[in-house]
Amino acid sequence: RPSRPRTGHHLMPGSPDVSAFPRTAWLRAARKALTAAPDEAFDYGDPRGRPELRTVLAEYLARARGVHADPDAIVICSGFSHGLRLLGTVLRRRRVREIAVESHGLGHHRALLTGTGLATPCLEVDHLGARTGELAAMRGAGAVLLTPAHQFPFGVPLHPDRRAAAVDWARATGGLILEDDYDGEFRYDRQPVGALQGLDPERVVYLGTASKSLAPGLRLGWMVLPRSLVEETVAAKSAADWTSGAVEQLTLAEFIASGAYDRHVRSMRARYRRRRDQLVAALAERAPGAEVGG
Ligand SMILES: Cc1ncc(COP(=O)(O)O)c(C=O)c1O
Repeated sequence: RPSRPRTGHHLMPGSPDVSAFPRTAWLRAARKALTAAPDEAFDYGDPRGRPELRTVLAEYLARARGVHADPDAIVICSGFSHGLRLLGTVLRRRRVREIAVESHGLGHHRALLTGTGLATPCLEVDHLGARTGELAAMRGAGAVLLTPAHQFPFGVPLHPDRRAAAVDWARATGGLILEDDYDGEFRYDRQPVGALQGLDPERVVYLGTASKSLAPGLRLGWMVLPRSLVEETVAAKSAADWTSGAVEQLTLAEFIASGAYDRHVRSMRARYRRRRDQLVAALAERAPGAEVGG
């Protein structure tokens, strides 16, 4: 990523305001979590991650994003990118050769997938999101990576008909949808849409991350897996790095359970909303022809 400018306004997309990291509340959660942690938390644990975190995440994701989550089917990983890489490995082992990706997205994610040996044919994106109706014609694709809540970088939600088309394709072909829900909590110009995973938890892998809601430096993410994928993904995770750091996981679990996560997201949403309003107002004044969307 390019370095931040030292003066002026930082308008690079993709990063939260890291100066607003909730240090005091995080420290409080860490202290409480460490005090309460059983001794076994410091041992080699379950490769899926700490049960405390998987349990609160299942409840939070159901409430906030409409995700059907069983704590046993959640695997904690080092951010979305790590989860994507692990899933690429799993797909290759299943002899999947191609995963469709949105024509506009992060090159880094595509590179992670090609690094596992998968080809990444493109699905065009327009003002209604990815054209998922075209998946049926992509004969070689065994999976698709989508940003349904907020297409990156265009910012549009995936149209309901296209959400349905993606799920129909997955059901008809046995294909898998990887749902990148990187910033599902943050919407300013419309009602948030729930996760696609809610439409068919057996055909969609839901991937979430703390990188937008808290900070990318935490390197914490989560996958909610279809039952049929749990064993292979856990094997890939344990082969990669056994498990993610227990102390950070326990802290995040306490942070969510105490309500601090909800409070932080609420306050950041208001802060980002104010900034967005200022930007939109400035554009209306200085560049009246510009149209703002997403
Ligand atoms: C589209 C998209 N997905 C996911 C992520 C989060 O990646 P990670 O959790 O690996 O930090 C980002 C971060 O920039 C992103 O832009």
